[in-house]
Amino acid sequence: MNRPVMEGLRLNVPAYVKHQRLVAWVAEIAALTEAKDVYWCDGSQEEYDRLCQQLVDAGTFKKLNPVKRPNSYLACSDPSDVARVEDRTFICSQKKEDAGPTNNWMDPAQMRKLLQTGQDDGTPALFKGAMKGRTLYVVPFSMGPIGSPIAHIGVELSDSPYVAVNMRIMTRMGRAVLDVLGDDGAFVPCVHTVGAPLQPGQADVKWPCNATKYIVHYPETREIWSYGSGYGGNALLGKKCFALRIASTMGRDQGWLAEHMLVLGVTSPEGKKYHVAAAFPSACGKTNFAMLIPPKSLSGWKVTTIGDDIAWIKPHADGRLYAINPEAGYFGVAPGTNTLTNPNCMASLDKDVIFTNVALTDDGDVWWEGMSDTAPAHAIDWQGKDWTPEIAKATGAKAAHPNARFTVSATNNPALDAEWDNPAGVPIDAFIFGGRRSTTVPLVTEARDWVEGVYMAATMGSETTAAAAGQQGVVRRDPFAMLPFMGYNMADYFQHWLDLGKKLQASGAKLPKIFCVNWFRKGADGKFVWPGYGDNMRVLKWMLERVEGQDSGEMHAFGVTPRYEDLSWEGLAFTREQFLAATHIDKADWAAELKLHDALFEQLAYHLPAELPATKAKIAERLAQE
Ligand code: OXD
Ligand code: MN
Repeated sequence: MNRPVMEGLRLNVPAYVKHQRLVAWVAEIAALTEAKDVYWCDGSQEEYDRLCQQLVDAGTFKKLNPVKRPNSYLACSDPSDVARVEDRTFICSQKKEDAGPTNNWMDPAQMRKLLQTGQDDGTPALFKGAMKGRTLYVVPFSMGPIGSPIAHIGVELSDSPYVAVNMRIMTRMGRAVLDVLGDDGAFVPCVHTVGAPLQPGQADVKWPCNATKYIVHYPETREIWSYGSGYGGNALLGKKCFALRIASTMGRDQGWLAEHMLVLGVTSPEGKKYHVAAAFPSACGKTNFAMLIPPKSLSGWKVTTIGDDIAWIKPHADGRLYAINPEAGYFGVAPGTNTLTNPNCMASLDKDVIFTNVALTDDGDVWWEGMSDTAPAHAIDWQGKDWTPEIAKATGAKAAHPNARFTVSATNNPALDAEWDNPAGVPIDAFIFGGRRSTTVPLVTEARDWVEGVYMAATMGSETTAAAAGQQGVVRRDPFAMLPFMGYNMADYFQHWLDLGKKLQASGAKLPKIFCVNWFRKGADGKFVWPGYGDNMRVLKWMLERVEGQDSGEMHAFGVTPRYEDLSWEGLAFTREQFLAATHIDKADWAAELKLHDALFEQLAYHLPAELPATKAKIAERLAQE
């Protein structure tokens, strides 16, 4: 096979690479970015260890105390590069309407000039020379079990070894993927640079990045170009960029769903297994829910994790929807995680972890707010400064960034579902949609039918969190928890869900039930009313009873909710009054809420399915009659 050697640059193509188109593309990107060197990741443990050591030598990683936290590392980012940058994220479809009103859009020809070819006024393209002085890592990865009919392959070219090692945890990465790709297989090309070229002799920094950032998707050609950030959601391109934004457009074209959903298995005391997929916005407890441990009184129930963030869901010949977790690891929020809120997660983090932006303790371990009741007397905070509880009290300084993360393999999770890697996926019995709402939205509501469920999901609102740069705690509409992750026009996506429901119904299959939950309602004292975490099993149990057709609950304006006596309260002191505070429907609040639904529908008027305003009209009518 031709092994191109460009002026002074070897492509270093391993003998096992048979894919000429891939090699030609690597050559093209290496030439554009003027990378110093090219390295093809094979995905081996030896390679992972070597790259981690290289990151330690560069000062990007600190190796943690091998006794306390074996084979684990801490990276602290540049303070300007700590979260997803939604205002710098673009969907560059040919037509602006296809990106829709919820996405930033730029004409793809214009964007290509800006990133790849140079602008009319002679301004060089951002990617031109962007990898000077750096190695270009070729990272082949499979989203989903290698060879699964639901999986798809991508190749990320990145100048960040931090990306390469994180991708080995988050995806099935390396040589085995190229073997499946063969000499002509399809892959999604993903190009990433931190945008910090090094001039000869210039010393590197610990966390190279650029103040200018572009996270760009071309849905028609299924390409991703990411510039200027090393942060996970902007740089690990298999995750949000591919598995949600690009995959959502693939799903629209091919008749399947790419969703911001965890997937869990629930086994009843009688041994019946159910599968539930649940969509929550970022940093609303998806990882906690996916690893839930039922309370003692419900210990006959068992919850197992299939995925904690993303689900790819395809209709099967039997008429049911089957889901896989396209990821192989968890990139979760550390602050707030502890042995009470999520014991399975804490156990997952015992070893083999990459932490980002948590604090370093004096004994070489990690700490974050909420990890333990007592804070360490001294630590080095995520910005490298001395941190003590006294300093925190006086200045408000956080030891860990609120969006600090861990990257860990799914196989570290003691609650991992036996089917998590099954190429066929698991059949879905119920969908849950949940936002973070201190008021208005009740603990749980079941949609009466698929259309009402799509309405609930489409109109979901949530208070913003630290997972994205920008103001926190403001309610924004976050349809299907997909607002930052939609690869096309949101109203067309609603239509896609409605069409899929019709198609499944026509096949005679039993559709998954759809529920809407809110764990986050607050009482007059400003505290959360619902205990959450393991006690969410009480709600889950009710949902599965409904799946089994139990007549437990009452109908109201929006759907069906359980009565107090429909939930199991053993082992929890939760009064009727508290239940009411978590579930009651305030007419005035809902009149205001429905106005916000109207505003959303106005914003999404182009291609908005008529079923949605029609459903709203029925809800308003019922509410008026209550
Ligand atoms: C995530 C997010 O990282 O949703 O999962 O931001
Ligand atoms: Mn997420």
